[in-house]
Order: sequence, then structure tokens, then C-alpha cells
Amino acid sequence: MRGRSRTGEERPVGNDIEWRKCRAMTNGEASRYHAVYSEWKTDPEGFWAEQARGIDWFRPWDRVFDPAAGVYGRWFAGAECNTCHNSVDRHVANGRGDQPAIIYDSPITGKKRTITYAELKREVEALAAVLRDQGVEKGDRVLIYMPMIPEAAFAMLATARLGAVHSVVFGGFAAHELATRIDDCHPKVVIAASCGIEPNRQVPYKPMLDAAIEMAENKPAKCVVLEREEHPYELEPGRDVDYAAAVWAHMEAGTEVPCVPVAATDPLYILYTSGTTGQPKGVVRDNGGHMVALNWSMDALYGVKPGEVFWAASDVGWVVGHSYIVYGPLVYGATTILFEGKPVGTPDAGTFWRVIEEHKVAALFTAPTAFRAIKKEDPAGDFIPRYDLSSLRSLFLAGERADPDTVKWAQQKLGVPVIDHWWQTETGWAIAGNPVGLGALPIKIGSPTVAMPGYDVQILDDEGHPVPAGTLGNIVVKLPLPPSCLPTLWNADERFRSAYLDEFPGYYKTADAGYMDEDGYLFIMSRTDDIINVAGHRLSTGAMEEVIAAHPDVAECAVIGIADSLKGQLPAGFLVLNSGVDRPVEEIEKEVVKLVRDEIGPVAAFKIALAVKRLPKTRSGKILRGTMQKIADGQEWKMPATIDDPAILDEIGEVLRRRKVGQGFI
Ligand code: COA
Ligand code: AMP
Repeated sequence: MRGRSRTGEERPVGNDIEWRKCRAMTNGEASRYHAVYSEWKTDPEGFWAEQARGIDWFRPWDRVFDPAAGVYGRWFAGAECNTCHNSVDRHVANGRGDQPAIIYDSPITGKKRTITYAELKREVEALAAVLRDQGVEKGDRVLIYMPMIPEAAFAMLATARLGAVHSVVFGGFAAHELATRIDDCHPKVVIAASCGIEPNRQVPYKPMLDAAIEMAENKPAKCVVLEREEHPYELEPGRDVDYAAAVWAHMEAGTEVPCVPVAATDPLYILYTSGTTGQPKGVVRDNGGHMVALNWSMDALYGVKPGEVFWAASDVGWVVGHSYIVYGPLVYGATTILFEGKPVGTPDAGTFWRVIEEHKVAALFTAPTAFRAIKKEDPAGDFIPRYDLSSLRSLFLAGERADPDTVKWAQQKLGVPVIDHWWQTETGWAIAGNPVGLGALPIKIGSPTVAMPGYDVQILDDEGHPVPAGTLGNIVVKLPLPPSCLPTLWNADERFRSAYLDEFPGYYKTADAGYMDEDGYLFIMSRTDDIINVAGHRLSTGAMEEVIAAHPDVAECAVIGIADSLKGQLPAGFLVLNSGVDRPVEEIEKEVVKLVRDEIGPVAAFKIALAVKRLPKTRSGKILRGTMQKIADGQEWKMPATIDDPAILDEIGEVLRRRKVGQGFI
């Protein structure tokens, strides 16, 4: 197969071009990956101690790894540090004060702003002073509910400066989800903005914040609120503090707020992620190990240099935003882009290329769904030649399976290596990837390549025995997990053990299934739990079922993820109504859709609710969600031997056909 470049010449695509490009990027040298991986395996503590030299410590560690501490051990025990110091102050002190730290580019509002490291220090120090005025101290929690604006990053760093712990909540979640998080982490202060802005609407935050605080049992004492000019905000007397006025006062006064030393093992943040119930899991990230791993990854995995521009087109509400919009690039001394927009529609499918040209982006990281959206809008890639993309060296994809069509389209149109890598909120950085900085390995499309140093990845059968190469199984990581991975769940050691460690003793269960080939390349095939991935967003079908089951007319329900050509997966809910319900079924279906949007939020993208007579079950009463999904996706399926009544599967197929839902029926 051959593709056309911007200049019109033909060029090969596929694994072939990847391999040659990757070789060119490393001056034709072989990758150092295998040597570095075995260096880590031979001496894990020595390896991470060496990488820790890239970080400023206030006090050195007693032990690189203390196996007796915490649930499975802790990294850099005894050390003291501060993540804000490493992300901001040390760069100013080391001569990077005038270098852009954050470039805010917001096609949705038409605004742009460049913030140097010196300016970042002033903003962060002033906001830290505001938080200190509100009584925030080391160890206190600060909840951040903000869209993609620079103040979201300032808020994270200001919290870290005080040694406090932030918890960022994504703007697409509804009040109930916000309340759940408030109740779990008990924030002393909430930092919010007046609104988020979506292409089709403004999203006012005040009604959601008010409703969440009303619902929550552990109410925060204060809210520091940034009023955006796009949307007014009426301050609640006694509760709300005006962000702009309070920060301005401290800037004027030149208030100094030193970085508070914390233990390397102290929490930097809590990030809630979907679990197998409606109760999200509070993933804890520590300070020391987090910085060490991210700093290493910027160089070895992403292959960028301090001072270069790194762009993660995600949201600060997700782990990608935490690690690679804020902390990774800033700890490393790179320039990060904070993009408030969408890959399409703000204003068109050329936005990404405009940003790359304008800010000279060296590496772009996004979810495959963003490229599917661009490809759908501009299949021929006509926007691409209009921009100078010569600064771009590589494209990194993660968050969901990178489908081969999208990978091939991206590499053909952009002419740079497209690097799939696999990770989770829990790990905070890649479990598997192709380390461009060490010299890229040949790409096998469909695989996120190989385990990163720090991760001993194995494939086990359900009984915990290793399976041969090429055989599908449970993907696990031998303990201990490397620096930056979660040491536990917030206030829930037992839940951490039961969710991740108990099923395969001695290993961390990723809850992904897949296989490893003869060359050690991993292939991630599916989740082993109820999690689905919608537009790169991780969602729990169990949580949606809990919401739907609360509808008074619903007797029982099942939510499955069905394949979607744009978002990867979409949730579809099957409802069995109570007998005697005589209202129009369509009315109830609409109510259920609204209920999920109101309770979980628009991000759930729950728009398909189908009333059915019965749900297919095993004789022991287990709903056959997997078989329903295969039918909806038009995949081959076998009649489960334990099915109670096979006719029900025909009924489900009939509803899908009639309603034109699922790849098998559209
Ligand atoms: N605040 C409020 N609402 C939000 C939101 C936010 N921060 N983010 C998304 N939503 C809303 C959307 O407006 C949409 O609402 P609608 O039902 O009224 O249209 C709904 O949540 C679903 O959002 P999404 O699934 O993202 O669909 P979309 O059509 O808005 O956008 C993409 C689709 C592919 C363009 C978008 O998902 C995207 O850019 N994804 C790639 C990058 C990414 O964010 N990855 C995440 C982790 S790396
Ligand atoms: P999150 O915690 O939101 O980052 O989601 C993590 C989950 O997304 C993983 O457990 C996988 O199921 C999926 N995922 C992330 N990256 C990839 C990838 N590169 N390939 C396949 N699945 C992925």
C-alpha cells in the first residue's frame, strides 16, 4: 500500500514506514530498550535510584523501596520533596524563568495565553496564599472542579505547594458524582470555575456545585470561584471567595509561600475512576515516585527534551491530563499545551494541525477517538497540507484500543511514527509502550509494544498459571508496582486489596485481558470487568445499571458496551419494565436516558435505552451480557450451555434489528 505526502510524493505506509522512521529517529542505532529493561530487572532499586537523580529532594530517602511499608511496599521511603517545587520553582531558579511553561490555546473561546515559568510561579504562589488564608494545610484535601483553563493547573500546583492533596473532578460529571467524591475525600476547600464550554452549549458549574454540596454529608467550608467572562457567577456569601480578587491581592502584596516539604510517600492527589459499582475508586498518587517515573518517561518513552513543546490533547479531569498536561511536562521543564477545544468543530478538523504549527509541538498525545473524529470529518486529510507540521516527531495514542485503520490513517497522513501505549488511571504512566527516547522498536500495529522498565507483565489463566505466548489470558503485573503506580485507594486499603491484589496473589490485576507474543509484544483485547471505554472515557456499566434500576417503572436492566465506529464503544441499556406499567414505553426510555445524564453526567454518552420483555440469563440467574454484546456487534456467538431460555436471545436480536442498534443491525 502506498500513501501521498504533503509534497505529493508517494511513500510506503504500514509497519514498513514505521520501522524505517523509527530507525531514522535513533540515527539507525538499535534500540537501547532491551539493555535498559534488563538493567532494571537486574537491580530495580539501583535503576530507580539513578532515575531519581533528575528530581530535587529536600531530604534523601532511607530506602529506595521499603517492602514492609504500605500494602505492597513504598518507593523512596524517608525522603522529603515537593512536587510544586520540582514543577515550577526549580526551573525558575535554574534559568528557565522566561521559557513558556503553559500555552493555553482555546479555540472554543478564541483566547490564547502563554505563561512562562516565572509567571507560573507568581500565579501559583498567589493562589497558594489564598488557599492558606482559607485554612488549607499539609494533608488537607482540595477538590478542583474546572474546565481546561490555566487556572486548573495553577490550582493543582498551588495545592501541591502547600503539601495538600487535590482531587480534580471532570466537568462532564453531574452533581451526584461530584457529591460522591466530596463525601469520600472531605475537601476543606473547593476550587471551581463559573462554567465549562462545550461546542453546543455552556455548562454552568454553580448549579452543579450547589446541588453537590447540598447532597454531600461532608460539606467543604469554602469555595474559591473563578468567574469566567463567558458566564457570570453569583458568589454565595460566607462560602465563596472570588478567585481573581483574592489572587490579585496576593500578587500585589508579593506574598511568598514556600513549598512545604512532604514525605515522598505522602499523597499528591486522589483521582476517582470508575469501579465495578457506583462508588468510584479513589486512586492515590504519591509525590516522590510519581515525579521520578514521569520525569523518566518524558525522556525515555516520549523522546522529548526539556524546553520542547509537548501536547497531551486530553482533559485535566483524566489521568492523562494529570500526568501529561500538568506534571510530566512541568517536572521535566518542557512546555505544555492546555487546549480547550475538540478535534473537530472548533472550528474544523484542522484545529490539531493549526496548534502543532503555531506552537511547534514536538510530540502529540491523544486518544484514538480524536483521530477517528478527524478522519470522519476529513477522510482525505485535506486540512493537513495547509499547515507546517515539521516540528512533530511522533504521535502517541492511549486510553482505548488503537484500531489499525486509525493508526494507518494517522501514520500515512502525518508521516510520523504512531505509537500506541497502554496504561490506566491506577498506574499513572505507561505499562507498555514503544520507548522512542531509547530508540523505538519496530511497531506491530494492534500492539502497544512492550512492558516498560518497572513492569514485569505476565499473562495468567483464571487459575493463576502462566499461559504460553499467543494465548489469551488475564494481564497482571508482578508486585511491587513501579514508582507512580497507586500505593492504595483513598482510605480503602481493603478495597484496594480485594479489587486488585487478591485474585492473583503476588500480582496486580489490570482487569484487562490479552496476550503476549513470542517477541514480548502485548496485545490488549478487552476488560475482564464491567468497564467500557466511550470516546476514551472510562465508564462503569454497573454504575449505570444502579442508576437505571432506581427508575420506578424498571424491574431489571442490563447495560452493555456496543461497538461504535467513532467512540469505540457506546453504552446500551436493556430495560424490563414492571408488570402493569401502562405508559408509553418510549416515554420511559427517554426518562431513563435523562436519569443517567442527570445522575452520572453527559460524559456517560448514554442515549440508547431499549425496553425488552425479558433479559437472557443462565439457569443460576446471571445475565448473559457478553452474548448480548456479541449479538449487537454482529460477532459470532455460541449459545451458552447454561442458558435458561434460548428464545430470549432471539427477542433481543429482534429489538436491536427493529431499532437499528448495533453494528450487526445498522
Ligand atoms: N464538560 C461538560 N460536558 C462534557 C465535557 C465537559 N468537560 N466533555 C464532554 N462533555 C459532554 C459532551 O458535550 C457530550 O454532550 P452531548 O451529549 O450534549 O453532546 C457528552 O459529554 C459526551 O461527550 P463525548 O463522548 O466526548 O462526545 P463528543 O461528541 O462531545 O466528542 C470526541 C467526541 C471524540 C470529539 C471527544 O470525545 C474527544 O475529543 N475525545 C478525545 C480525547 C479525550 O478527551 N480523551 C480522554 C482521555 S485521553
Ligand atoms: P483509564 O483508567 O481511563 O486510563 O482507562 C484504562 C483502560 O483503558 C485500560 O485498562 C484499558 O482497558 C484501556 N486502554 C488504555 N490504553 C489502551 C491501549 N493503548 N490499548 C487498549 N486499551 C487501552
